[in-house]
Amino acid sequence: MPRHIAVIMDGNGRWAQKRLMPRTMGHRAGMSALKRVVKTMGELNIPYLTVFAFSTENWRRPSEEVDYLMNLLVEYLLKELQELHDNNVKVNILGDYYSLPQRCRLQLQDALRKTRHNSGLNFNIALNYGARNEILTAARKAAALVASGQLSVDAIDEDLFSSFLFTSQLPDPDLLIRTAGEMRLSNFLLWQIAYTEIWVTERLWPDFTESDLMEAIAAYKGRDRRFGGLSRQGEDHA
Ligand code: FPP
Repeated sequence: MPRHIAVIMDGNGRWAQKRLMPRTMGHRAGMSALKRVVKTMGELNIPYLTVFAFSTENWRRPSEEVDYLMNLLVEYLLKELQELHDNNVKVNILGDYYSLPQRCRLQLQDALRKTRHNSGLNFNIALNYGARNEILTAARKAAALVASGQLSVDAIDEDLFSSFLFTSQLPDPDLLIRTAGEMRLSNFLLWQIAYTEIWVTERLWPDFTESDLMEAIAAYKGRDRRFGGLSRQGEDHA
């Protein structure tokens, strides 16, 4: 079983367009899909889920859509926080949520505080997140420590660098799911997915169900993860 699943929840807009509805209705339906996936992950005892909810590039969308997404996030946390907490879910945010509107920040801080001692599913929400920015920030941290004499250049290894990222407390994802058929990474977890298995489905995010998740996990189980080495079969022949 994968321990950590990351998801690029794409296709909300297309789902709405197909139904001649405003894009925002797609995001609302996407919220229901997210609830289903969080529940299933808990039932499957998979310890880490990371979802891409809002990227640093999503600010380029029309302000009504950005506002809607921010309000949806607040609504989601208001409605779901108690249930998440009752189900022992630990909420974590990846990204610069301090620059989000105040009502979002306060709601997020409440969710982080309330669930911080929970030991069930680690539910990571990437918000105002961009991987290049994350890597640059980590590089600046390392450079500042070197410049102040607190760190030697040779001490900067993969583990130390990883500890400067938003994901410092998380294992790397085993499986990355992207919905709506696009074959790209969209600036998501670029450092962390070096050896992650990628599974793309045509299914639009609002239509994503438990059985799609099971299909992704089954595909993952059939993969031969070599991490740059040889496959088990290859080792037999070596
Ligand atoms: C991509 O679909 C989705 C997003 C930019 C936002 C993801 C948000 C949710 C699933 C809403 C619920 C979650 C929270 C935490 C509020 P798109 O709009 O890019 O779709 P398109 O490519 O079809 O236009």
